[in-house]
Amino acid sequence: MRFQNQLSLGRVYKWLWGLCILGLVFTGFGQLPIYARYKLSTLPGLKWSADFYFTHALHEVFAFLFIALAVYAIILWLFGGRPALSKAGILKLIILVGIFATGIVRVLKNFHDFYFSPDTLLVADLGHLALAVVFLVAIAITAALSSPWFKKEYREQ
Ligand code: HEM
Repeated sequence: MRFQNQLSLGRVYKWLWGLCILGLVFTGFGQLPIYARYKLSTLPGLKWSADFYFTHALHEVFAFLFIALAVYAIILWLFGGRPALSKAGILKLIILVGIFATGIVRVLKNFHDFYFSPDTLLVADLGHLALAVVFLVAIAITAALSSPWFKKEYREQ
């Protein structure tokens, strides 16, 4: 782990992050009845993708991995000289915070101890789906423009 003005997340972290986002996107959209409708679930090894409860549970497993990886990166950033985010980094961060917040409401709504008004639930439900789509577009654009998370002077050599 390197500290001064450099954030060293390493190859394993980047692969885990990529796998986690891929898993969240696939299982997230798997909760909409599209994989059965468009016959994706008839492909070998993908029968499970049409099972709402399985994709829902898998989505929450990936959500916990997402939270763990995010907390690790935040701790590394806090003790690693707090390198400045690029504009693309700030955009992706805002979208991910929105996805996380709406996702948490969607998890907690299933527990009796938590009450959310119908308006809050509507915003969380529609907001989560909308932000998921915006996130996919943001990833595609920032990847195409190869816009990294951090400003030039803070990127790993
Ligand atoms: C990049 C990250 C993520 C993406 C792309 C994503 C995508 C999605 C999509 C497309 C849906 C289906 C929307 C719908 O049914 O209207 C969904 C549902 C859901 N997501 Fe996510 N999600 C992400 C992260 C998270 C996180 C971090 C959490 C929890 C903290 C979470 C919790 C949930 C829950 C609870 C549902 C609703 C399941 C249901 O009751 O139908 N998601 N997600």
